[in-house]
Amino acid sequence: MGAEVVIEGLTKSFGKQAIWRDVTLTLPPGEVSVMLGPSGTGKSVFLKSMIGLLKPDRGKCVINGVDIVTCSERKLYETRKLFGVLFQDGALFGSMNLYDNVAFPLREHTRKSETEIRKIVLEKLEMTGLSGAEKKLPGEISGGMRKRAGLARALVLDPEIILCDEPDSGLDPVRTAYLSQLLIDLNAQIDATILIVTHNINLARTVPDNIGMLFRKELVMFGPREVLLTSDEPVVEQFLNGRRLGPIGMSEEKDSAQMALEEAQAAAGHHDGSTEDVRGIVPQLQPTPGLPERKGVRRRKDRVMKILHTLPPAAQEGIISSLTPEERRRYGIPESAPDRPFAGAHRGELPPDDVATVPGSPWREPAPRPGSQHARPPRDRGRS
Ligand SMILES: Nc1ncnc2c1ncn2[C@@H]1O[C@H](COP(=O)(O)OP(=O)(O)OP(=O)(O)O)[C@@H](O)[C@H]1O
Ligand SMILES: [Mg+2]
Repeated sequence: MGAEVVIEGLTKSFGKQAIWRDVTLTLPPGEVSVMLGPSGTGKSVFLKSMIGLLKPDRGKCVINGVDIVTCSERKLYETRKLFGVLFQDGALFGSMNLYDNVAFPLREHTRKSETEIRKIVLEKLEMTGLSGAEKKLPGEISGGMRKRAGLARALVLDPEIILCDEPDSGLDPVRTAYLSQLLIDLNAQIDATILIVTHNINLARTVPDNIGMLFRKELVMFGPREVLLTSDEPVVEQFLNGRRLGPIGMSEEKDSAQMALEEAQAAAGHHDGSTEDVRGIVPQLQPTPGLPERKGVRRRKDRVMKILHTLPPAAQEGIISSLTPEERRRYGIPESAPDRPFAGAHRGELPPDDVATVPGSPWREPAPRPGSQHARPPRDRGRS
């Protein structure tokens, strides 16, 4: 199983420029998580801080008991071997062909023979659709191919934790769909903990178990996918729908005059930029038939059911609707009846601290609803 990553109060600035502060979250072992956020909010800085390439001002990032913010250089070097990282720009060595680029971590960190290395490199190149391109230099291939080569290189050491910075950027929609499937298949095969930074809403809706979002120097959310996908936080809705209308502007934050102007224009019929109203939970991708089941899915279900009562009603609803009859029995949820579709929603025993947490999150400790602990039925779910 992949390693758990526990991040507490992580804060980073460059000189006077604060990037983000007090980021607290846990990447559950073997689960796939996505981090969203407008351009420039510090997502790449976050990934680099997680592997100790950048030094946060304060806070912790603990992996297998090692806090990489404060540990020795030697421990950091050791811990880094657990990671496979796909950097945003691919970070390939320009003077090495793809074969040597992908072989590099194996030559650097292992004592494998060239025959063993060859087998692994060719397998990863095939996995990422690059068979036949081994001899090309990074400057001789397309941007999407460079991205895939970066991914192949991130995978050669069988990492426990995989970080992917915009793996889909520069890929066409079909390759992005293949890449999404590849990430799920990889997780099924090696049960690694995966964190993906992306702007691709399709990928964010169908791949991860957990989704977070950075905005205005804070982690606005991090938790089970159902929470963000049903959220009516204006910034989340705007982002998922790719609309101009909302708190995010061209230079991240928008002033109220600009906001009022855009609202008036939209009210007068000017296109707000979105092409469809993207809301709600869509089915998650499954591993390709023939591959093992994802172990993280079962672990996550157990984990999420224990915190179900702490989640907002719409997320509870989505989670309960996705349970099979056998799962409903396992979690002690009575069979649904047409008038009580979410009867008997489970109350967990574990404190919410056991999972991904968000400081000051409005859904951490929901106010008890009079007379019921159940999720609202769909017809009550109005938009405020
Ligand atoms: N090494 C550095 N030194 C100083 N400032 C930096 C450094 N790296 C990043 N920054 C600044 O940190 C901020 C966040 O950058 P980052 O690359 O993490 O954004 P991002 O969320 O990944 O954006 P995008 O979605 O466009 O990739 C930017 O303002 C950037 O200029
Ligand atoms: Mg970035």
